Amino acid sequence: MKEITDFIIEAREQRGDQYFTLTLKHPSAMQEILPGQFVEVLVEGCREVMLRRPISVHDVDPERGTLKLLIQVVGRGTRRLSSLKVGERLNVVYPLGHGFSLDVAQGSRVLLVGGGAGVAPLLHLSKALSAKGVSPTVLIGGRTSSLIPVSAEFEPYANLQIATDDGSLGHHGLVTEHPCFAEPFDRIYTCGPTPMMKAVAQAATQRGVWCEVSLENMMACGVGACLCCVVDTDQGHLCVCKEGPVFNATRLKKLWNF
Ligand SMILES: Cc1cc2nc3c(=O)[nH]c(=O)nc-3n(C[C@H](O)[C@H](O)[C@H](O)COP(=O)(O)OP(=O)(O)OC[C@H]3O[C@@H](n4cnc5c(N)ncnc54)[C@H](O)[C@@H]3O)c2cc1C
Ligand code: FES
Repeated sequence: MKEITDFIIEAREQRGDQYFTLTLKHPSAMQEILPGQFVEVLVEGCREVMLRRPISVHDVDPERGTLKLLIQVVGRGTRRLSSLKVGERLNVVYPLGHGFSLDVAQGSRVLLVGGGAGVAPLLHLSKALSAKGVSPTVLIGGRTSSLIPVSAEFEPYANLQIATDDGSLGHHGLVTEHPCFAEPFDRIYTCGPTPMMKAVAQAATQRGVWCEVSLENMMACGVGACLCCVVDTDQGHLCVCKEGPVFNATRLKKLWNF
């Protein structure tokens, strides 16, 4: 059941040059939010930004009734969000979309590959996998170290690996060139820039490895009404906001031509 609620901003943290986190407290009882689901936030105080902005859920604390967003400043809406202060309200529609599949067997070898703002849903996913007895490898890529927006928060749940294009942190090169990417995995989940996800999905498919991809298309309504986020999948035209944002890679072969 979708809900529209004013959350209270409980904490704000800067992450490198372009990213920040907002921890949002629900005024009463927060609904369950699955890894890979997203929220649509209202950007108030900015006339040019009329539409809500879709943002993945980075972390959830059900006992405290909080959720955390990890946001990259890319334009007017996210810049306005970055100026919000602790104690202010943020109007949120949630939970939206279908999240990642969690039907994973205990002890499975699982790889999570993230880049850019696509790192956001991977913490909530790592925690959910860890609770199922799976310790995933999380491989994060970026152009340079200041654009890797992760902290030690992954460490209790995952084996964290980094790749940077300029070699300033972790492996020097793309995520697909990181030595751990060549290891045998039972499952791969990925979220990030399209060229990265496409390369990951293609490699997984060629190896016969099950792979899920979380698309970050432009969105407006977020609930399947405006059709602005439709993609042409191997099973026909689907709304990313309603039928996704998570899709099995086998459904994207036609879209990505592999
Ligand atoms: C399901 C979903 C989950 C998302 N999760 C996150 C998240 O957890 N953290 C986060 O920082 N961002 C996330 N995004 C992307 C985020 O919604 C956009 O960056 C944001 O809407 C841009 O708003 P803006 O007003 O700042 O930028 P605008 O002024 O609207 O645009 C500025 C620039 O950003 C580009 N842009 C706008 N929307 C997107 C988009 N969806 N993907 C890529 N580029 C875009 C535009 O083409 C333009 O070049 C997600 C998007 C989707 C669809
Ligand atoms: S954003 Fe409106 S249909 Fe998906």
